[in-house]
Amino acid sequence: MTNTQTQPVPANLVAGARAIVEAADTAEKVRLAYAVSKAWFKRDLALGSPSKDGHMPDRPGRPDKPELLAPRDMPKRKLSGTAGRLALIHSLAHIELNAVDLTWDLIGRFAHVRLPRSYYDDWVRVGLEEAKHFSMLQDRLGQLGASYGDMPAHDGLWQAAQDTGHDLAARLAIIPLVLEARGLDITPPMIDKARSLGDEDTTKCLDVIYRDEKNHVAFGAKWFRFLCDRQGIRPEPAFHSYVRKHFRGALKPPFNDRARSEAGLTPGFYKPLARLTG
Ligand SMILES: [Fe+2]
Ligand SMILES: [Fe+2]
Repeated sequence: MTNTQTQPVPANLVAGARAIVEAADTAEKVRLAYAVSKAWFKRDLALGSPSKDGHMPDRPGRPDKPELLAPRDMPKRKLSGTAGRLALIHSLAHIELNAVDLTWDLIGRFAHVRLPRSYYDDWVRVGLEEAKHFSMLQDRLGQLGASYGDMPAHDGLWQAAQDTGHDLAARLAIIPLVLEARGLDITPPMIDKARSLGDEDTTKCLDVIYRDEKNHVAFGAKWFRFLCDRQGIRPEPAFHSYVRKHFRGALKPPFNDRARSEAGLTPGFYKPLARLTG
């Protein structure tokens, strides 16, 4: 606990969120995410405000490596063997690092919107879990003799945050309800694959991620509905219009209908978009 003594926790939640997103060093980013979450749940932190405590940066701090490439410039990934497994875990670690930044950006950027404390409790928990997911995958890379930064990674994920920086409901529609919901569709086959290869350690990581991500989608659905209720608008058509405006590309079946429904993301949200775009 010397870490938190020598490097104090930021003054409030907004300042903490900003420090996490700005941190370029991944160990520091993770350390701050744990420290800020702990202080928040101990009720040691006030919320703070974006106007007083600083605006969120346009881009997150990142280490020198991995090299970030446009999605179209990414080398074709070999899907089989040890190299394929490493590339998959590396790309998942990169997604989780983005998820850390996206979640803390959500917490800090929209702190001027009037929301109950339970909203912040939910998203601070998500921000902590994303840091845990990144660390688990980074450790798994280490066990396999690799590390995060060894391979290029794509730079498309942060774009979604920039496109929805002005509107909390749009942000919730795109990040938890499109991108994280997509994780619910594609993770179970990855778990089956890792298990069939006898890779128990990777299976365990993915099991934890899958379980946690169901909650992240559920929080997205809950707070999206909350915002729609407050404006007196119906959530499903609102979701359709946000996705058409801010998400480029199809919502791709097959969908994990059961996990999505358990998270409160019923088919009326995503099926019409798949028909229109897919
Ligand atoms: Fe995650
Ligand atoms: Fe997540």
